[in-house]
Amino acid sequence: MAADRTYHIVLFGATGFTGGLTAEYLARHAPAGLRWAIAGRNPDKLAGVRDRLAAIEPALAGLPLLTADVTDPASLRAVAADARVVASTVGPFIHHGEPLVAACAAAGTDYLDITGEPEFVDLMYVRHHAEAVRSGARLVHACGFDSVPHDLGVWFTVKQLPADVPITVDGYVRVGAKFSAGTYHSALTAFSRTRQTSQAARERRAAEPRPTDRRVRIGPGKLGRSRDLPVWAVPLPTIDPQVIRRSAAARPEYGPDFRYRHFAAIKRLSTVLMAGAGLGAVTGLVKLPPTRRWLFGRLASGQGPSAEQRAKSWFRIRYVGTGGGQRVRTEVAGGDPGYDETAKILAESALCLALDDLPPTSGQLTPVTAMGDALLHRLTTAGITFRLLE
Ligand SMILES: NC(=O)c1ccc[n+]([C@@H]2O[C@H](COP(=O)([O-])OP(=O)(O)OC[C@H]3O[C@@H](n4cnc5c(N)ncnc54)[C@H](OP(=O)(O)O)[C@@H]3O)[C@@H](O)[C@H]2O)c1
Repeated sequence: MAADRTYHIVLFGATGFTGGLTAEYLARHAPAGLRWAIAGRNPDKLAGVRDRLAAIEPALAGLPLLTADVTDPASLRAVAADARVVASTVGPFIHHGEPLVAACAAAGTDYLDITGEPEFVDLMYVRHHAEAVRSGARLVHACGFDSVPHDLGVWFTVKQLPADVPITVDGYVRVGAKFSAGTYHSALTAFSRTRQTSQAARERRAAEPRPTDRRVRIGPGKLGRSRDLPVWAVPLPTIDPQVIRRSAAARPEYGPDFRYRHFAAIKRLSTVLMAGAGLGAVTGLVKLPPTRRWLFGRLASGQGPSAEQRAKSWFRIRYVGTGGGQRVRTEVAGGDPGYDETAKILAESALCLALDDLPPTSGQLTPVTAMGDALLHRLTTAGITFRLLE
């Protein structure tokens, strides 16, 4: 049914910082014949984005513009009914995300986003997974830097090790980059909702079946000098290990007993201490209304690092995997993680779901369980490296 839709891909949030970069990526890299459109709540801003895209590729002067607002469910139903895949960059997702997930789950439309908010992903599982299984929709959250390089990086590492043996993987993330207003607001929102996040995780645990014949564990890992690299290993409680745990629970390739730990790799102890103090202060301040207002007011929506700043940004994730008496080291690396690479990852994920021949799946999925090797191939071709070091 979704194969007959007007558009292969609709990009929702194209007027925002990351959405705009994703639209530009599609303008440069979409294959001939791709039917796509951009969507947002403000038609004038959408027309401005289209002008920018037409400067890249003149044929895009006629790109369709769809007006849709998260506060107007009928407008989202119309977008979902017309598309094979809807990719959204409209965050914070806990505030803006659910109506589009609901519309896609009901219409059998594939849905992608770039959330890094565990509370949102857990609630969407509890509320919309069953409907998406029924309709055939694939709901794939966290299709940006959170969590595709991590999820695919562990998948790639596991495949370098023998099959059917217990496997342990440690991931060490290093990033040199700046962040956008949207990321800042979403992070503050998540810090202010720790109680709700735990509650959503409990609801999900009660609803989601677990494998009975295999064991899958994540983190937390201990802060200390790494045994594998010349860095401090700092446990990193992002959404990534949760996504990796779900991929491992779904796929037998991760072996009968899989364990993953996720760390930030930091060179100097002084940086670890400063980051810890900064994070502690923000987590406290964001819970008090006057300081919360002050923190949120510091950056306006739509702002983000300049092209020059992004050109100097980078990420590198090292994995150390052991299993069956073997030990491997792998690396995933690329450019600006938050925006240039996130735009690339989201756009390639949308192309992958819309055009590639993938195993049949439905419901809430991870990048690995929905797209696996097809997405790995696309991202490698697009310049993100996945390599075996030894
Ligand atoms: N996973 C990752 O690695 C990753 C990387 C980057 C960003 N992100 C996440 O992506 C999200 C966006 O970040 P950003 O920097 O691009 O933010 P942004 O520039 O503030 O863009 C937000 C977008 O949401 C739209 N929007 C807001 N309210 C809306 C509504 N009621 N109806 C329809 N559209 C609405 C805005 O439209 P208007 O232009 O009309 O205001 C804009 O297009 C954030 O949640 C951020 O955390 C994740």
